[in-house]
Amino acid sequence: MSSKQIIVIYASRNNKTIEPIKSVLDVNHNTVFINYKSETFESLFQTYEPSLVMFNDDLINTDMFVECLTKTKMLMGCTSCRLILLINSLSSLENELLIDLVDDYIVSKVPSKLFQKRVDIQLNLSNKDIELQLLQQASKQRVNTKNIELIAALSRAAEFKDNETGNHVCRMSHYCRILAKKVGFNAEQQTLILEAARMHDIGKIAIPDNILFKPGKLDESEWEIMKSHVRIGAEILGDVGDSELLTIAKGIILSHHERWDGTGYPLGLKGAEIPIYGRIAAVADVFDALTTVRPYKKAWAESETLQYLIDNSGSQFDPFLVESFIACFSEIKDIKNRYIDEI
Ligand SMILES: [Fe+2]
Ligand SMILES: [Fe+2]
Repeated sequence: MSSKQIIVIYASRNNKTIEPIKSVLDVNHNTVFINYKSETFESLFQTYEPSLVMFNDDLINTDMFVECLTKTKMLMGCTSCRLILLINSLSSLENELLIDLVDDYIVSKVPSKLFQKRVDIQLNLSNKDIELQLLQQASKQRVNTKNIELIAALSRAAEFKDNETGNHVCRMSHYCRILAKKVGFNAEQQTLILEAARMHDIGKIAIPDNILFKPGKLDESEWEIMKSHVRIGAEILGDVGDSELLTIAKGIILSHHERWDGTGYPLGLKGAEIPIYGRIAAVADVFDALTTVRPYKKAWAESETLQYLIDNSGSQFDPFLVESFIACFSEIKDIKNRYIDEI
């Protein structure tokens, strides 16, 4: 398919109406002429990839014209294709509705060279639209990549600050990936969840050291400050735009402390209201927290930790995920042994 394809839609069965236009356009352009009653009209943008769709003057006075035009506009969607009226004289433009529906008009009853020139201008405008769209896409992509790099750097900073937990973020994010795989996420989604889970506690960067590293139990006001790491983390990510990775990351940040029975924070979401990524992260996060040394506790044995998951299945955790976690425990164990904390 040519990127400079032109479609001319016309009404008349009489070739004489369309012949003069044909003789000019056929010289330098890849042009298709379609009668508006033909079946092709309905599948216009599936069959062709036009830069210009032109409605011939003989169509303007038919009953179907506005409907035809509106339908074409809808089929065009966000393409860079331009909608042009080919008119014999300016009197064809008396209907003001036409001005809103089309991008421009060309008077076809002019010397062929001038007509040709006007068509080329429209084609150039269409090409410029494509270039602009590509530039916008590339710039959006660059901003996304920069955002992700920035947030990855902040995640690393949060990891350094929270250094008493050693390889927690690394193990926990791998546990998430393994669990996501077990419950049916595809390879691409597994990688996304692994990267996103690394950011789950990014908000801890703003928690004062005396609270974050307190060896004993936190009092009520300290606990409130500790819980704020969820809100702060979401604020650090800010507007995630259309980045899938950051959308998942924000979902995990906001929901990894929710509980299946609705008694978690920050929103007290219940059951399937909690995003699946957050439910996965909750199991992985708690398993790692319990099996490793923390300022306030010793490391629990694996069997003891698995028993904790089972005991809290249906209250703290999604029962299906607990079951799945246990079902892929040999892989979980491999990660646990591979990234042991140096104490
Ligand atoms: Fe957290
Ligand atoms: Fe964590």
